Amino acid sequence: MHVRASDPGRRVGARDVVEALVHEIGSGALPPGARLPPVRVLEAQLGLSKNTVQAAYDELVARGLLDARAREGVFVLAPSLPREPPAAQRRPAMARWAAPLVEPYPQGGVFELGSVFIDPELLPRERLAECFRAAMRDGGPAPFYHPQGYPPLRAAIAERLRDRGIAADADAIVVTVGSQQALDIVARALQTRTVAIEDPGYRYVVPLLRSLGHRVVGLPLDPFAGLDLDDWSQRLARERPGLLYATTSFHNPTGYSYSSSELMRLLALSAEHEVALMEDDWGSDMLSGSEYRPTLRALGGERVLYVNSFTKKLLPSLRLGFALAPSEAIAALVAAKRTSVLGGNLLSEMALFEFLDRGYYDTHLRELQRALDERYQACLDCLRQLMPAAVRWTTPGGGPTLWLELPAGTDAARLRARMLDRGIALEPGDANFLGPAHLSGFRIGYARHAPAALARALGALAEEIAKAS
Ligand SMILES: Cc1ncc(COP(=O)(O)O)c(C=O)c1O
Repeated sequence: MHVRASDPGRRVGARDVVEALVHEIGSGALPPGARLPPVRVLEAQLGLSKNTVQAAYDELVARGLLDARAREGVFVLAPSLPREPPAAQRRPAMARWAAPLVEPYPQGGVFELGSVFIDPELLPRERLAECFRAAMRDGGPAPFYHPQGYPPLRAAIAERLRDRGIAADADAIVVTVGSQQALDIVARALQTRTVAIEDPGYRYVVPLLRSLGHRVVGLPLDPFAGLDLDDWSQRLARERPGLLYATTSFHNPTGYSYSSSELMRLLALSAEHEVALMEDDWGSDMLSGSEYRPTLRALGGERVLYVNSFTKKLLPSLRLGFALAPSEAIAALVAAKRTSVLGGNLLSEMALFEFLDRGYYDTHLRELQRALDERYQACLDCLRQLMPAAVRWTTPGGGPTLWLELPAGTDAARLRARMLDRGIALEPGDANFLGPAHLSGFRIGYARHAPAALARALGALAEEIAKAS
């Protein structure tokens, strides 16, 4: 048998023996049933160590090309021969897996009417590519990472927050993989184990919290009636959560934004019930005319944990977000991030820094806000023209989505199935509820689609609602 090293100048290894034997078996030079030389013969013939030849035979046995029979030798298996099932004691154990926490990621191919994403046409991909190229200058990122996040990026984020009236320092920022990871590291680092959330609320926060051992309690939110903060106060007194998570602008899924007086009352409830506040500010800078909404963090100061992300405004696949945290929390949050992922993707962090530093983000946000405004107005016009009288919807005034409430008695699940038959996917609205659903409807995403396409989908929805009610 001839075995050649794959890299000239290097010694023959097990991989070379495997490749040579695969070739000989494939070409018929070693026919089924042929007996191979014993390990010690081949090792002497090729001048190899015993382990090398044994490793090559073992791999070919595992691949089903050879059969090693005790005391008889090693034989070529006929390709058509059924393989012996592996001996029971050689089958490795199977780990036991939990049921998936969330449904599979959508594969596309349908019109996603409830999407929270921005139309890819509105995303500055060329300028981002330019920033990635710039980040690769001078040999690209350093070999080591920054567990808390690329320092110039943290400084640039802090500066932007200060411009919006939020006191922030680069040392108080932890860069994360989207705001989802900000929620994750908070949940990992918290000592208390009960978290209060809005009900309905952002649907991927509940499985995250529960999987990390938290008890989750709901605070009912009705976007048509406003917040019943007396009711929240009673629930906080009863359940005694350590943290209250709130999406204060363009709440997902309803589009509701807290008023300044509601934010002030929430700060008072935090003090009264000793419940810390975490504000998920995914959308307050997606508002027309740079008319920023007040934030809990701006009103309540540094004790309010604040998370935000570039996903919805810049590029979902960038996966960059951040937490702005009280100084006492930083060490625990960075340690939680390190134990989970060691560090973030420095190249993306450097590219985002370039994007902010060159002023591209401000230009992009202005253009985006103008486009979103148009789409929002076009969506409202369509709803007014098309929807049956008993349908209601929220008017968020910004952000990517609104909530469409179906006429009482409409079977929402059947309606979804009908719409899917027409190639239009709606999010299951009830998946956002922790307790019994007090709303029945869907999110409508007006940022994701061009107005004409959205109008067609809303037309189909109006027809199906009329048929169903
Ligand atoms: C309210 C809210 N918070 C956080 C997230 C997490 O997003 P990302 O990790 O992409 O920033 C989402 C995603 O849709 C969201 O809707």
